Amino acid sequence: MSRPDESGARRDDEPRHVVLVGLMGVGKSTVGRILAERLDRRLVDSDTVIEERTGRTVREIFSTDGEPAFRALERDVLLEALAAEEPLVIAAAGGVVLDADNRRALLDADARVIWLVVSHQTLLARETENGGHRPLLDDDPAGTLARMEREREPLYREVADALVSVDHRSVGEVVEAILR
Ligand code: S3P
Repeated sequence: MSRPDESGARRDDEPRHVVLVGLMGVGKSTVGRILAERLDRRLVDSDTVIEERTGRTVREIFSTDGEPAFRALERDVLLEALAAEEPLVIAAAGGVVLDADNRRALLDADARVIWLVVSHQTLLARETENGGHRPLLDDDPAGTLARMEREREPLYREVADALVSVDHRSVGEVVEAILR
């Protein structure tokens, strides 16, 4: 008796989207770009879509309209992307898990959610160099990141199907770890 083709079966069962979650600066956008190229898919990068759609930067939206208005835009982009028929790579913004509806949507979606994890040291080094669209880190970046890690860790854990460490790995190695 011939056995079913296991790789074929796995492909059929594969969730539609790949969603990257994790703290600011962990590399969701960069990893997402390479992963999308590898899978020949479109990348939906939450912050970029918001900036294109509103014609304003994340920083401007935070300072003019406030964080709740930004979070509403962030939720719209996530829900829209998760509902897309086309299989996507979605680089979700770091704060997406704060909203219970977003977490529910991530759990219910036909998607594999990958939590990119980074050590505090690596993150802080990256953040302080690269604070452009991250107004929440303007004051006391180290303390803010430590608080975010504490608050968000259980939320990322709740929605994630898999955890991939980015420490001591190149972007290419992280992508390979995701695809394994
Ligand atoms: C935020 C993360 C940022 C950006 C905004 C708020 C957060 O996106 O959406 O500054 O609350 O974690 P990245 O995770 O892409 O840096």
